[in-house]
Amino acid sequence: MLSSEALILHELLSADREPVSGQKLARLLGISRVAVWAQLQKLEKQGFAFAAVRSRGYRLVRTPVGVHPALIQAYLGRRRGTPQLVCLEQVDSTNSEAERRLAAGETMPQVIVAHHQTKGRGRLGRVWHSPSNGNLYFSFAYRPQLEPSRLQNFTLWMGLNICELVRNFCKLSPGLKWPNDLLVDGRKAGGMLTEARIDADQVRELVFGLGLNVNGRASALPTDVRRTAISLAEATGAPVDLNRLSAALIGRVSSAYAQFVEGSYHDKYADLWQRYDILRGRSVTVIQGARTVRGTAMGIDDQSSLIVRLESGRTERFRAGEVTLAKNTA
Ligand code: BTN
Repeated sequence: MLSSEALILHELLSADREPVSGQKLARLLGISRVAVWAQLQKLEKQGFAFAAVRSRGYRLVRTPVGVHPALIQAYLGRRRGTPQLVCLEQVDSTNSEAERRLAAGETMPQVIVAHHQTKGRGRLGRVWHSPSNGNLYFSFAYRPQLEPSRLQNFTLWMGLNICELVRNFCKLSPGLKWPNDLLVDGRKAGGMLTEARIDADQVRELVFGLGLNVNGRASALPTDVRRTAISLAEATGAPVDLNRLSAALIGRVSSAYAQFVEGSYHDKYADLWQRYDILRGRSVTVIQGARTVRGTAMGIDDQSSLIVRLESGRTERFRAGEVTLAKNTA
């Protein structure tokens, strides 16, 4: 169910810059024309601007730069399966917030979107630097009731969908670096962290976290990550509309999740993997605990383990690990 603000914005956006009459908006919302005008005034205080076109109605001429929940909802429209949206200025970690909401028994699915995280976390206990600089931090929370073995492909499947979205939305050529990095121009534009609570052989709670460098500057990040990071805006050379991108991303993740749960994703998974796997055929170093091996990446097996042909000629599969590309092939 869309809020009144989201309904007005949805109608104005769907009109594609043509004016929409106050009467039509009033009818749609079941309120008076004066009340419509009051809603528009309220939205103007939040960074929107409307042009009143004489005897024809209102046109949307400006949207806010920061994340605005009603605008994201307006872009999403009334799609089925869309999670409840929670937008936060600041939070410790959107994954932790999602876990708290799951533990409190709230209705799912939900998506938490934040501008700033004070304790953003990455894989292998690392910090995910999350300044308030135009980047976005998302967590999707679900209660899936799946067998744990079915999660093997989950993060890569989501990552492939995000690659496709970034390609279509930003006209870039992203790639996925097994197991969880979204790369653009060989640099990290995003990272994913999936966390689950498994009980009695069922995945009861599932949180899919995504940190996406959208409009931030890599130079503002700490020195250890600066050289290897990039934002979508840096790659395209223009700022990205955070609200349109968020809506497109929420829509894409939601349909990818539905296909995943139905089990109808396998063919597409194989196709997308061929398109976005950036490691295939390249010299890699894999670090797994105290062990480091070198070889050539040969794709993934049906459990999404990375296949590496070692320098000895032997083939090994890795379920987890940290991969770096050898300098001469990067
Ligand atoms: C990685 O590359 O190691 C994964 C990074 C995942 C970061 C995201 S940001 C949103 C969500 N909340 C967190 O604390 N982490 C994930």
